[in-house]
Amino acid sequence: MARNRWSHGYTVSLIWLSSFILFYSGFQMAIQNSSKRIQFMDSVSTNLNSERRSRLYDKMEHDLEEHGAVFLQGGETSQSLSLSDIFAVKDGIVKPVLKAANPPVRANVLYLNTNFSIPISQAGRQAVKGIFQPYFDRAIWFQNSSLYHFSMFHASHHIVAVPATEDEIEADATAVKAVTETLCPLKIVLHRVVLTSTGVLLGCWQVTSGTDPVYIRERLRNVLPNAPEKQLYDPAMLHTSFARLLGHPKLSVEELHKQPNQLQFFHELVIHLNNKIRGFEAEVSELWYVEEFDMLALALNGRIKPRKFHLGCSNN
Ligand SMILES: *[C@@H]1O[C@H](CO)[C@@H](O)[C@H](O)[C@H]1NC(C)=O
Ligand SMILES: *[C@@H]1O[C@H](CO)[C@@H](O)[C@H](O)[C@H]1NC(C)=O
Repeated sequence: MARNRWSHGYTVSLIWLSSFILFYSGFQMAIQNSSKRIQFMDSVSTNLNSERRSRLYDKMEHDLEEHGAVFLQGGETSQSLSLSDIFAVKDGIVKPVLKAANPPVRANVLYLNTNFSIPISQAGRQAVKGIFQPYFDRAIWFQNSSLYHFSMFHASHHIVAVPATEDEIEADATAVKAVTETLCPLKIVLHRVVLTSTGVLLGCWQVTSGTDPVYIRERLRNVLPNAPEKQLYDPAMLHTSFARLLGHPKLSVEELHKQPNQLQFFHELVIHLNNKIRGFEAEVSELWYVEEFDMLALALNGRIKPRKFHLGCSNN
């Protein structure tokens, strides 16, 4: 009897123990599966985002053919300001015309360290000079290479202004900082340079590792609920402007007539530039929350107040 009871107790514990082991290993498998599934989903969405970027860049490449060189007729920027609004030529030198932004624009941008931007800028200038110098003279504005940036998300822009108090701005910046602590630095590669119909030479980048811009923008939208619903760029886009063309190439009237397609001239410039800098690799490890006190201050060397945050995640 005693022996029976003991053996009964033994059996019960054995059942308990084996259930526990079964449960535990099932649980472990479930965890592993779901983390595999998450990893799998991550890589699927990363691929989808990369494809979306490539399609977008393909489309942008054809913008000039489709719309022509609008900038030669005083075209608009991506932020719908006309070129004659933002540049003036004085004594043969191009100068930006700074206009106060009221309220200031508040932009979140990824910042490209000068370790990367200066070499790109130099190679770019050489390439542009190589083909442009005789024709363009000074009708070109180069982006300050200390301020190469990728526009991510606006807390306020000039189309939909969202005024904010100093305290609200501080709170926004604190929330953005908390986001940046979870973002991983991005390894990126210059997919191609395009010339838009508005005359901007844009670097279009692909992401090889790190947090995807789509996700960065989502996170920023979450913590900046008052931000304009309509943002300025496609969520997948990762672009930085290198230079802006401001006018006609100085072709003589005969040359212009001889060249049935003036766009050919611009195509050659872009090809030349791509040959020089396409495939350039860089790393992005900072996000800036920038108050711009002048319109397009980051592009035109206007007044800015940047708050600089490191992307804090270390495992890629
Ligand atoms: C830039 O280069 C310097 C000197 O080589 C290096 O110490 C620094 O970490 C680099 N910064 C980035 C962001 O790569
Ligand atoms: C370029 O930007 C840097 C950093 O903001 C600034 O110090 C410099 O004066 C700017 N260059 C010009 C020509 O404005």
